[in-house]
Amino acid sequence: MKAREEEKGMLRKTYALIDLECIAHNIRELKRMAKTEVMAVVKANAYGHGMKQVADKAMQQGVNWFAVATPDEAIELRQTCDKHILLLSSVDDELTLRVLVEANISLCVYTLEQLNSLILLCKKINHNACIHIKIDTGMNRIGLRTKEELLILLEKLKGQASIFLEGVFTHFATADEADMEFTYRQLQSFQQAVETIKKENFHPICHASNSAAILKIPKAHFDLCRMGISMYGYAPSQETNIKEVSLKPALSLISYITYVKTISAGDSVSYGRQFIAQRPEKVATVAIGYADGYIRALSGKAEAMLGSRRIKNIGRICMDQSMFLVTGTEAKIGDKIQLIGNGVTAQELACLAGTITYEILTGLSARVPRVYLND
Ligand SMILES: Cc1ncc(COP(=O)(O)O)c(C=O)c1O
Repeated sequence: MKAREEEKGMLRKTYALIDLECIAHNIRELKRMAKTEVMAVVKANAYGHGMKQVADKAMQQGVNWFAVATPDEAIELRQTCDKHILLLSSVDDELTLRVLVEANISLCVYTLEQLNSLILLCKKINHNACIHIKIDTGMNRIGLRTKEELLILLEKLKGQASIFLEGVFTHFATADEADMEFTYRQLQSFQQAVETIKKENFHPICHASNSAAILKIPKAHFDLCRMGISMYGYAPSQETNIKEVSLKPALSLISYITYVKTISAGDSVSYGRQFIAQRPEKVATVAIGYADGYIRALSGKAEAMLGSRRIKNIGRICMDQSMFLVTGTEAKIGDKIQLIGNGVTAQELACLAGTITYEILTGLSARVPRVYLND
């Protein structure tokens, strides 16, 4: 059997195929919608797509801002990216803070304690730092909550030559839902915080929009928009209308048939005997399982593509293998199976598994090699 070009050297031909031209296309589309600078959210290995490769492609598209979630991600990205990198979470540990400051990572700050530690560190190591103040306007995750807290931070910042207030930001809790009432309340609180900051004579870059707000709320675009899931080609939710924008899912998940057999009526398939054949059926075993991120909640629900034909998953998905019904097809050992792509979307799988597209994409495990087109 002849291996496809991208499968060369792969011992188990189960992999994620990522078309970076789709990422580039999505960035162009999102820039068109945002009409501002954009920040590529590349945390969690770029939502499973590969942080380095996605960031490289985004830089080729002129993106100057990147966001990550952990210090390790920030430092890893810094190896290949000389643009602004914002760490979206705060850091308390001095050693970690020092590594980040020395790597010129922009830091998220929302308490006086955080700011004080940073000021002390910058003095100690004779280094400057850029910060983005995080305003909590209703997500109640991280961020300062009151005007008083904000004014205390701004007061402290005055005269601190080593700390540059580069940005101020907030995050929406329900921008991807049909009811926009709470999002508009959040937006209003953020606008008030921005006014306070400007009155105090600071002029940071303001940013609030995630994908849903990029697509739905022009008023929330401010100076910079943070594009996450939409950059990878998906709407943030089924309630988000993406008709005005053309998004192309960049990732396909591919595996292959390792075994084919015909079972008799009454035979069961996989752990727990959840599938019992009503008649003779042809069953294909595929080399992918929940340890690859093909989650068990999809058991008996997901469909995949065998060529142009949809086939149904049966029985429980195992750690490394799963079974599909291929009765009436010519399926044979070695045939390629597309678990995501060619009409099967991560959004469809998320819906079947009772989760969100984000979790399907970020859940693809490190065991699945990422293969790139158009890098
Ligand atoms: C602070 C922050 N901004 C932006 C994003 C990107 O959101 P989305 O993927 O919905 O565009 C995230 C993702 O969780 C986030 O935590």
